[in-house]
Amino acid sequence: MRYCELLNKYLPLAKNANLEEEAVKLIVAELSNMNNTELYLHYNDIIPARLEEKITSSVEKYLTGYPAQYILGYTYFYGLKLKVNEDVLIPRFDTEVVVEATINLAKNYHNPKVLDICTGSGAIAIALAKNIVGDIEGLDISNKALSIAKINAKDNDVKIRFFESDLLRNVKEKYDILVSNPPYIENNARGVDKMVLDHEPHLALFGGDDGLDFYRAILKDAQKFLKPGGSIVFEIPYDKANDIKFIALTYFKNVQVQKDLSGNDRVMIIS
Ligand SMILES: C[S@@+](CC[C@H](N)C(=O)[O-])C[C@H]1O[C@@H](n2cnc3c(N)ncnc32)[C@H](O)[C@@H]1O
Repeated sequence: MRYCELLNKYLPLAKNANLEEEAVKLIVAELSNMNNTELYLHYNDIIPARLEEKITSSVEKYLTGYPAQYILGYTYFYGLKLKVNEDVLIPRFDTEVVVEATINLAKNYHNPKVLDICTGSGAIAIALAKNIVGDIEGLDISNKALSIAKINAKDNDVKIRFFESDLLRNVKEKYDILVSNPPYIENNARGVDKMVLDHEPHLALFGGDDGLDFYRAILKDAQKFLKPGGSIVFEIPYDKANDIKFIALTYFKNVQVQKDLSGNDRVMIIS
């Protein structure tokens, strides 16, 4: 089979199933060790026999509603290749603005000590370790997630201390920056994407009845784990900035909200 025949067969099926055609191309390109441009340069080539079965079965798995990143076993985040499986949330593009904001904030500190709370795949911690001269740590309640985070740190050649903790329970030290993208979907939220709901870890998704339990819990205890002049950086749900600001102002004086590339409220910086 030629690449063009395969794409002509599967792209319309993806579209009809309300799935992403781009994800199909990504699977085909990545498994063929090509980028998108190369894929089009090889559009009329015959797919190597040793790859055809793997590519076809992977695309068909995607068409059943299984995430492309879990099929490939990796994703890209902030220019880094990260291993992912069903034990970790697939890092989202929106979270890159949290990394960006934290890197900027870190410039105000000398060799900052940073803790990524709810680290999952280690995405935020690893992107920070690549870009900040300082001491980066990450925690998660899930040991399975921490195993993936450790592999990702090693693969990306950064040193990060990862440890198991239910939020701040096992934290012993003080930090310049606490950063977190906690679970924040409302427990009974409607309209959550089926692909997300069926395959990503629910531990990584749900944040209580109003989705804000993790913000409340972290903010209540954060002062104890911040050095003087320390800050918190949160990823926030786009429609809850005012609610989280209200909670934050119970414990802190300054709150600043930043938007993501779509113009939605996405990052909160608290000090
Ligand atoms: C939304 S995911 C964020 C993962 C990663 N930081 C990212 O941005 O892609 C939330 C993470 O919080 C972790 N988590 C859930 N409850 C927790 C708790 N009580 N204490 C620590 N981590 C928790 C989950 O295991 C999951 O890895």
